[in-house]
Amino acid sequence: MSSEPAAPPAHPEEVARLAGEADAEIAAVSDRRGWEAVRIRWIGRREGRVRELLDLIPRVADKRGFGQAVNRLKERVEAALAAADERLAAAERAAQRREAAVDVTLPGRRVPGGAIHPVIQISREIEEIFVRLGYTVAEGPEVESDRYNFELLNFPPDHPARDTQDTFFLEDGRLLRTHTSPVQIRTMLARRPPLRVIIPGRVYRHDNDLRHSPMFHQVEGLAVAEGIRFSDLKGTLEAFLHRLFSPETGVRLRPSFFPFTEPSCEVDITCPFCRGKGCATCSETGWMEILGAGMVDPRVLAGCGVDPDRYTGFAFGLGLDRVAMIRFGIPNIRLLFENDERLLRQAGIR
Ligand code: PHE
Repeated sequence: MSSEPAAPPAHPEEVARLAGEADAEIAAVSDRRGWEAVRIRWIGRREGRVRELLDLIPRVADKRGFGQAVNRLKERVEAALAAADERLAAAERAAQRREAAVDVTLPGRRVPGGAIHPVIQISREIEEIFVRLGYTVAEGPEVESDRYNFELLNFPPDHPARDTQDTFFLEDGRLLRTHTSPVQIRTMLARRPPLRVIIPGRVYRHDNDLRHSPMFHQVEGLAVAEGIRFSDLKGTLEAFLHRLFSPETGVRLRPSFFPFTEPSCEVDITCPFCRGKGCATCSETGWMEILGAGMVDPRVLAGCGVDPDRYTGFAFGLGLDRVAMIRFGIPNIRLLFENDERLLRQAGIR
């Protein structure tokens, strides 16, 4: 059994009836691809239905009437496709508007505020305390010469602190400064006394454990003038430490040694955690070492062109990271440099 193919239309009325079929297909179009498929099926230049009908003209009886009917069909399909195109475009515009629409009832997004790093907070606090005492803030380079970092600070050539155990040397003979004390030298070479400077900065040493990081921060203080005595150093440090911690903080000076100060001392404060009673943090001693200090050695003054018979001075240096750990209760120095947002937020200025 074979199915007969439908006989091709031969009369204008048959052509006109196809319009209903085209209308239905076009009305069902819902996207661009569907629209294009319908267009090709009906008015495609090579094989569309209109093309097929035009090819029939030589074979039908009423060529003129048939041809006009095909033209009307073509025009009708074109008009319907144009209308469908406009309908799709309108739907696309509406979708775009919906996407771009702003919901004015949504609450605003909160932009998280930045915070000052704990070490920098402490540094600024200390600078402020000393600026109020008449000091000016000075800075120096982190890549330093042996001359400024050691020699002019009266370190003998074979001093163990020059050892590669402690110092990072550069290939050109320079080094990463191991303390902020070279800025004492730079200050005295650049300015005449009387001078009072406070010097914050990064310093570097071969050291890495729970309490030590190869990069850490110090603040250096230097005062040089006529008539400065050890009691000025003691009074200055007490005033400073009472401001930085609390007025009840006990301050104790122990004799010590630094090549660039004579006499030298190390300064302890009563443990801020147990207030001097003794706890694990202060190894049950009740005290914590907080800074090194002393009277500027006359040889250092002379090396910088400052007359040691006329001028005296004191200097001190302290580690900022230590102070930040105490103030913010941070148990491990590495936490300070990992930039964990939780720590920064906890210590952040609100
Ligand atoms: N530069 C010393 C250190 O890094 C600290 C210090 C500074 C001591 C000034 C005395 C005077 O340990």
